[in-house]
Amino acid sequence: MKLALLLALALQSPPSGTPPAAGDARRILLELSPVPAPPPDPTNAVYANPAAALLGQALFYDARLSADGTVSCATCHQPGKSWTDAKPIGFGLASVSRHTMTLWNVAYNRWFFWDGRKDTLWSQALGPLEDAREHGTSRLAILHLLAEDADYARAYRQIFGALPELAQLPHEGRPVAGEPEHPQQLAWDTLDVETQEAVTRAFVNVGKAIAAFERLLVSRDAPFDRYVSALRSDDAAGSAAYDARARRGAELFVGKARCVFCHDGPSFTDLEFHDNRVPVGELGGDPGRKLGVKRLKLDPLNSRSVYADDGGETGKRKITQLVVDSHGGKSFKTPTLRNIARTAPYMHEGQFATLEDVVHFYDTLENATPEIGSERLIQPLGLSAEERAELLAFLESLTDESLPPELLAPPPAASLGR
Ligand code: HEC
Ligand code: HEC
Repeated sequence: MKLALLLALALQSPPSGTPPAAGDARRILLELSPVPAPPPDPTNAVYANPAAALLGQALFYDARLSADGTVSCATCHQPGKSWTDAKPIGFGLASVSRHTMTLWNVAYNRWFFWDGRKDTLWSQALGPLEDAREHGTSRLAILHLLAEDADYARAYRQIFGALPELAQLPHEGRPVAGEPEHPQQLAWDTLDVETQEAVTRAFVNVGKAIAAFERLLVSRDAPFDRYVSALRSDDAAGSAAYDARARRGAELFVGKARCVFCHDGPSFTDLEFHDNRVPVGELGGDPGRKLGVKRLKLDPLNSRSVYADDGGETGKRKITQLVVDSHGGKSFKTPTLRNIARTAPYMHEGQFATLEDVVHFYDTLENATPEIGSERLIQPLGLSAEERAELLAFLESLTDESLPPELLAPPPAASLGR
């Protein structure tokens, strides 16, 4: 969104002020829909390769990619729960420390996780696989599985070429930062550097296939999208078909309630990080983006690494200029609001059980953390009961879970690599 427009909006609608003129609201609403095609990913040569997406889909649903055969990506990102798990905090082999994020429209993101510690979708996918609390497996175990499963082996070969020679290699092993005596690290240390590099490259390919699948998880046909389409073509009957409360809620969203300052664009996120002053959760002490930036810069699998298919070009630009937030607050990634009515509970620790609670929070700032630094966007709104209901009706109108049903389950094994 144009900064000048945002400023004009801010001046027109201080928290207690008047909503923006209809013309401004209309202009901003037109920027929130339609959802374009996901952007290309120059770091992933197979981002739009259908065979890779099919392999990725199979891997996404396969619990054999875990230490005890019980955890797949879909354990926490369940298709029937809008790609979440409905729990405050995710649980795989053990409890993790944050709320499971939805995968809707995930391919539009620039940074991943609540703290942005990953900067590509493929590199993100590699995190949970080797996290002891999630899948708890290792890159060597995964490659052995790929080699031993005829369907996987065929698909992998067709897409990426030969797997590394595995016969002489241990069945487990991965780098474990800071734990030289960890059994996984000791097993990893038995490989020479060249073999480690080849194994990591094949592991990265697993992430790239999963990313190609995740790119298909796009929500773009919600009642709100049909409304904006009608608005764009001055179709009065089409506009009138949109719930009147939701329409007023949309105007609040881009006006008096100021949500669009951060929840901007067709995914309803500016793709960046903010301190929205949400009360600290029970786990507490989450440093958010501050630590995320440090971890991203040190990550051997980040977008400026040799594993990026553009030779690290995009990553060099993206990461080198990155600075830790200067305002001192704890910031988290602005989440998408698409299908938000289906992904309770909310916030990075699942602090709020319902959307009503979220709207109540932004309205009153009850139990908010103190305002730190210069981000003054979060101020009590003082909405009426009717306005709160309108905002909720608008959020509910962002619901569209339609996807080809064949994406909601593993593909037939025989279809892989054909
Ligand atoms: C134990 C539950 C669990 C499992 C298993 C799991 N995830 Fe997640 N996922 C989460 C949680 C929790 C977060 C947020 C974590 C954080 O921010 O630190 C997350 C975040 C993500 C994100 C970031 C979304 C965004 O907008 O930034 C993606 C993408 C994702 N997971 C994909 C996957 C894939 C692919 C797999 C399988 C390889 C997987 N997840 C396995 C719980 C899980
Ligand atoms: C200053 C930027 C900013 C503004 C303004 C803002 N949000 Fe948010 N929103 C965020 C961030 C950042 C998060 C995630 C915070 C966290 O979990 O720590 C969030 C989280 C949410 C969530 C939970 C999403 C999820 O998946 O858990 C909802 C719903 C939401 N906001 C709706 C709104 C509404 C409605 C408004 C206007 C009344 C609004 N936001 C205004 C930045 C903002």
